[in-house]
Amino acid sequence: MTMPAMVVSEIGQQPQQIPWKIPAPAAHDVSVKISACGLNFADLLMIKGEYQDTPVVPFVPGMEIAGEIQAIGPDVTEFKLGQRIAAFCGHGGLAGETLVQAARCIALPETMDDVTAAAFPIAYGTSHLALGHRARLQAGETLVVLGAAGGVGLTAVEIGKALGARVIAVARGQEKQALARTAGADEVVDSETDDLLGALRDLGPIHVAYDPVGGAAGEAALRALGPEGRHLLIGFASGDLPRLRPNHLLVKNTTVIGFNWGGYLAFAPDVLRESLAELVKWHAAGRIQPHVSQVLPFERASEGLEMLRTRRATGKIVVRL
Ligand SMILES: NC(=O)c1ccc[n+]([C@@H]2O[C@H](COP(=O)([O-])OP(=O)(O)OC[C@H]3O[C@@H](n4cnc5c(N)ncnc54)[C@H](OP(=O)(O)O)[C@@H]3O)[C@@H](O)[C@H]2O)c1
Repeated sequence: MTMPAMVVSEIGQQPQQIPWKIPAPAAHDVSVKISACGLNFADLLMIKGEYQDTPVVPFVPGMEIAGEIQAIGPDVTEFKLGQRIAAFCGHGGLAGETLVQAARCIALPETMDDVTAAAFPIAYGTSHLALGHRARLQAGETLVVLGAAGGVGLTAVEIGKALGARVIAVARGQEKQALARTAGADEVVDSETDDLLGALRDLGPIHVAYDPVGGAAGEAALRALGPEGRHLLIGFASGDLPRLRPNHLLVKNTTVIGFNWGGYLAFAPDVLRESLAELVKWHAAGRIQPHVSQVLPFERASEGLEMLRTRRATGKIVVRL
């Protein structure tokens, strides 16, 4: 069937709305009628060809979706027609319908609406697994979160608080800092300060740094860690890698932890599924409150991507289909 979709026809060119066709689902796939698609900074990287899993052109961006199952591959047993799901589709989300492996879908409870569900898996899944499973953040420890009003950053603030940590949020400007406080941050620091390292040291000792920004801010957070600190490498939204000096790591017994949420699908899918199942329960219990700052109609999807590119987005942006 043919439907409208935002299609990247050439790497580096902005997606354009053109008709798009998908085949019938293969054995382990489902076809999803998409109702909402969450935007991510990684969509920008993919459009530029800089993302680790950039598909060949032409492709449809949009990594996470919510919707209803329209058709089912012959070997899929865990879902039924008409069921509401959220999925980490990787790409294909900015379209009326997409194919996705059943293993990438989670059934949605009544407690979660489609807009929330489309904003949920990547941001919450990343912060939950990174802070809990990888960094083993403990109650009473101090966590610093860079990009703290962004998609993953805001969930790191919330989850850090839910795990009992004291949270320092680094974000640019009063509006973003106020949002980080609403999510539970105990302290806020402006990311534009001349001396981020000094400001963080004043608030230390810091046990865990959550770094989706990299560059100079990432370096400051790493250097502000106390002995046996753990630095989570989440992403490089600044466009620069943080410099990691082995002599500094050695002297302070620092651990640098690489983290790739999507990687768990390949090597430990159960870890990822259990984390999402727990997060859905947390949401139902009101322990976490997703912040969707913008819900845009499909025709305005490019505006949402532009807001991410220009650092104007807070929390998550969701496109309605
Ligand atoms: N490792 C993983 O599994 C994983 C999963 C999800 C996302 N990520 C990565 O995490 C990063 C953030 O993703 P996101 O979706 O949360 O993005 P986002 O919503 O755009 O948030 C990024 C934040 O980074 C800060 N920033 C600093 N310099 C920036 C710049 N030059 N351009 C844009 N933002 C800048 C901004 O905060 P201020 O303006 O307040 O400084 C912004 O709020 C991306 O690199 C993404 O690929 C990694």
